[in-house]
Amino acid sequence: MPPISLTDAKSADLFARARRVLPGGVNSPVRAMRSIDRDPLFVERASGVDLIDVDGNRFIDWIGSWGPLIHGHAHPRILAAIHAAADAGTTFGAPTAGEVDLAEEIVRRIPSVEMVRMTSSGTEASMSAIRVARAATGRDVIVKFAGAYHGHIDGLLADAGSGLATQGIPASAGVLESATKATVVVPWNDVDAVEQALRAHDVAAVIAEPYPANMGLVPPQDGVLQRLRELTEEHGALLIFDEVISGFRVAPGGAQELTNVTPDLTVMGKIIGGGLPAAAFGGSRDLMERLAPVGDVYQAGTLSGNPLAVAAGLETLRMLDDEAYLRLKETTDALATGLRDAARDRPVQVVSVTGLVTVFFSETPVTNYEQAKAADTAAYGRWCRGLLARGIYPPPSQFEALFVSLAHEPEHVAQTVEAAAAAFEDVW
Ligand SMILES: Cc1ncc(COP(=O)(O)O)c(C=O)c1O
Repeated sequence: MPPISLTDAKSADLFARARRVLPGGVNSPVRAMRSIDRDPLFVERASGVDLIDVDGNRFIDWIGSWGPLIHGHAHPRILAAIHAAADAGTTFGAPTAGEVDLAEEIVRRIPSVEMVRMTSSGTEASMSAIRVARAATGRDVIVKFAGAYHGHIDGLLADAGSGLATQGIPASAGVLESATKATVVVPWNDVDAVEQALRAHDVAAVIAEPYPANMGLVPPQDGVLQRLRELTEEHGALLIFDEVISGFRVAPGGAQELTNVTPDLTVMGKIIGGGLPAAAFGGSRDLMERLAPVGDVYQAGTLSGNPLAVAAGLETLRMLDDEAYLRLKETTDALATGLRDAARDRPVQVVSVTGLVTVFFSETPVTNYEQAKAADTAAYGRWCRGLLARGIYPPPSQFEALFVSLAHEPEHVAQTVEAAAAAFEDVW
């Protein structure tokens, strides 16, 4: 498959206009494609796995809006659910039956979640889960893992301080030192560092993406999640799983089902909104009834539990039966194996779990953020540009994952693997 030269006159035009009125021309940084050293392509429409940009270029999409679109773009059943909800009114600021249906479905799937509070974004959901954890424990400190992302909450935009168990320092301009003072950042997969932090501080909660996918996919090593559960219990801290990506993707009940490790609080997003803005957090009745209006922890949202988002999320979950997960796993395994074969003996690591794949341009396996950062991001960029030129839309950053969907068929995997092999030739 020879590379094509992307015609991007209309995208270029829109980007020029966008840069005048949107910082960097985008509403969320990764979309700008800076880390693969090119300008963004503006999307016109998409259906299934087909993504078409404003210049008429067609791509097989492997990001699926970064996770929500597990059934592909514009799935007819999800569109019908949204249309039906919209016909009845778009938002009421009052409770609806759909919110109860969705909460019941989430509770049915995730045994550790007895009650749910919905929000409009994953950021809000993590922020609120942390507030509940602090209220419930009467402690301040949150332990997070380097390279994990839980949304752009001030306190978690933190880098590790000078020692393993010292307070975090702001990772973004505009974040107060006082906001990151109560955050301790430790390396992923390093249970000794977690133990040290738990000994050194009164920790309210350890928050983890159980299958971190925001430094590329870096699965937990054997026993790590189990050890986090034991250590948090020993030290009276809560364990929060941020399943915004892994939830309803790696297994019907998320990473906690896959690994059999039960957190105290779970943060959810992406899939539960079916492509519309929705997220949530949940846990035991005791913890969740700390929330207003029953409890003393304030949390609210004008569009929380929005009827359109709830309808899209519920329809999305209803189509995720056991057969769907088997198929998602098969597609993921086929893609990962195909990419590994295409890479041959090149210095590339292909990592996967059901629904997620990362290709690290690294000679050695990646087990934490330091190692992920050492990957050859320039080579990754060249590879991605080679894929785009062959009609494949990859995550335009080394520190993300390909999101496999149920709309990806064996022929899409085959075309992607063929393009990937050719794009590897562009790099080396
Ligand atoms: C694991 C994880 N948590 C939280 C968030 C934040 O979600 P949102 O972008 O909806 O605020 C993200 C976003 O990608 C995420 O990947």
